[in-house]
Amino acid sequence: MSTKDLTVHYEGRECYHIILTTDFSLLTSQLEKAVGEDKSKKVCIVSDSNVANLYINNLKEILENAYPIVETFVFPAGEQSKNIDTVQKLYEHLILNHFDRHDFLIALGGGVVGDLTGFTAATYLRGIDFVQVPTSLLAQVDSSIGGKTGVDFQQYKNMVGAFFQPKLVYMNMEVFDTLPKEQFANGMAEEIKHGLIKDKAYYEYIRDYSNEIKEKNPETMIELLNIGCNIKRVVVENDPKEKGERALLNFGHTIGHAIEKLSDFGLYHGQCVALGMVAAAYLSCKKGCITKEELLDIEQTIRLYDLPIRIQGYDKHEILQTTKSDKKMIGNQIKFTLLKEIGNAYSDLSLTDADLLEAIDYVLN
Ligand code: GLY
Repeated sequence: MSTKDLTVHYEGRECYHIILTTDFSLLTSQLEKAVGEDKSKKVCIVSDSNVANLYINNLKEILENAYPIVETFVFPAGEQSKNIDTVQKLYEHLILNHFDRHDFLIALGGGVVGDLTGFTAATYLRGIDFVQVPTSLLAQVDSSIGGKTGVDFQQYKNMVGAFFQPKLVYMNMEVFDTLPKEQFANGMAEEIKHGLIKDKAYYEYIRDYSNEIKEKNPETMIELLNIGCNIKRVVVENDPKEKGERALLNFGHTIGHAIEKLSDFGLYHGQCVALGMVAAAYLSCKKGCITKEELLDIEQTIRLYDLPIRIQGYDKHEILQTTKSDKKMIGNQIKFTLLKEIGNAYSDLSLTDADLLEAIDYVLN
């Protein structure tokens, strides 16, 4: 079986590797390269109640062969745990177990685990090493790469955080044996997004090979993720702190986040991103950048992965208001990612409320 290894640079230097492989057999040797050969380090695996049930014992056993002390910290699964209280509990756990700056954390889980563990690592003792072991497709292709860490604050998503790079991102394709269907769709929404904003051939591959991809066999997943993660790698290398190009990754997320919020997180992130991508593609079509046929092609591709393209039961003005309370505003003007063409996105600052209402109306139809 093939293993892929992508190198991510940060500020002009090699920073960390993304390993795509089929089991955990390379983990300890990769850790040695990433956090150093010192085997007296303590490790704390941070996970949530869902993922811990599946993998934590196996991972702990593997790590215990290499490190003398392997601690675990498990918190209840779900967005409602992504807050300062959980971070505080993790700080306490690390203090009580005498973790110092030469020890490290492993985030075993999806986006919530990765973001929260990364934020704790960024701030505990002013920064200790951490490693991402993403177990959802969404975390693999998106949140584990690029060093965005953070937690929600009150009703505001990802409001408190830091850019803090992991030492290693290790992806084991075995997670697809247990990944729920809707979680797979969540990740595919981000993969479709990567194709639409940066790589037409990748978009076409996702569109034309949906049957193979949905079988989720390890070789196919490595191929798919290798390209998807590489797209994200290039974007975050060019613009690590989201001053420009990285904002293109928000394609579908502006209206998508508003719907997600109004659904009280009852809809999955990928479902909301899918709806947001339809709205953004509609606006790209209205501006004459993509054709009507291409808009329909995008909708068809989204549907292939069991993601919605229309939704009922929401008020368009409420979606607009929530969209505008998003933090991606420049003054009173919304910053919106649109497609110049399939595979090439840009940031648009010219959209009016009427444009947005029309696009929202389109997905509410
Ligand atoms: N998930 C978007 C980003 O990493 O910038």
